[in-house]
Amino acid sequence: MMLKLTILCVTTIAALGCRQDMFNQPKAKPMAASDFFDDGAVERSPPEGTIARGHLHSDTALFSGKEKGQYLTRFPIRIDRAAMERGRERYDIFCAPCHDQTGRGEGIIVKHGFRRPASFHEQRLRDSSPGYFFDAMTNGFGTMYPLADRLSAEDRWRIAAYIRALQRADAARLEDIPPEQVGMLARK
Ligand code: HEC
Repeated sequence: MMLKLTILCVTTIAALGCRQDMFNQPKAKPMAASDFFDDGAVERSPPEGTIARGHLHSDTALFSGKEKGQYLTRFPIRIDRAAMERGRERYDIFCAPCHDQTGRGEGIIVKHGFRRPASFHEQRLRDSSPGYFFDAMTNGFGTMYPLADRLSAEDRWRIAAYIRALQRADAARLEDIPPEQVGMLARK
């Protein structure tokens, strides 16, 4: 008897408490339609010129790769060993599929039919400034899509620095190798 009464009480309270108010809130869900706004969409665009926190990009050289309209001829961030290693890692992930690990433009995607980019070892690209490479990554270049959405500005500069290293390595001569290491080449 006692048990039956308890069950009755619990179910009655549960049934009374179960109103739909919290479930059916008068709220707008992302991407939903709306008859309140003229354009029929719930979501509003931010006012023109809105800048998200942390995206002011006031350092134009760092973010545009240009200074007074000219490609930057220097690196706006510190380039040390850690920066080069990060550059190599990012390059191997984001560029090598097309430009290949040495920069000759014979990556796997190119082998599957994508347009072949110029070799980074052409004299024209050896003479190009770091800002030129930064700009190609930031805004894309011909058929190559921009990569700024997946590489931070700092990482784009680190990649540009690593490309410089690839170019220097390609132009290396036997005299550049420390004498005690020349023997290692012969062994291969
Ligand atoms: C999906 C393939 C692909 C990827 C990934 C890619 N590129 Fe490219 N890149 C190309 C192609 C193709 C061109 C030449 C485009 C053209 O001429 O229309 C090019 C052109 C360039 C150029 C201009 C070369 C010139 O001739 O002046 C630079 C610099 C460059 N890429 C750097 C990079 C860097 C750095 C990365 C990685 C962050 C990268 N690319 C990733 C395919 C790619």
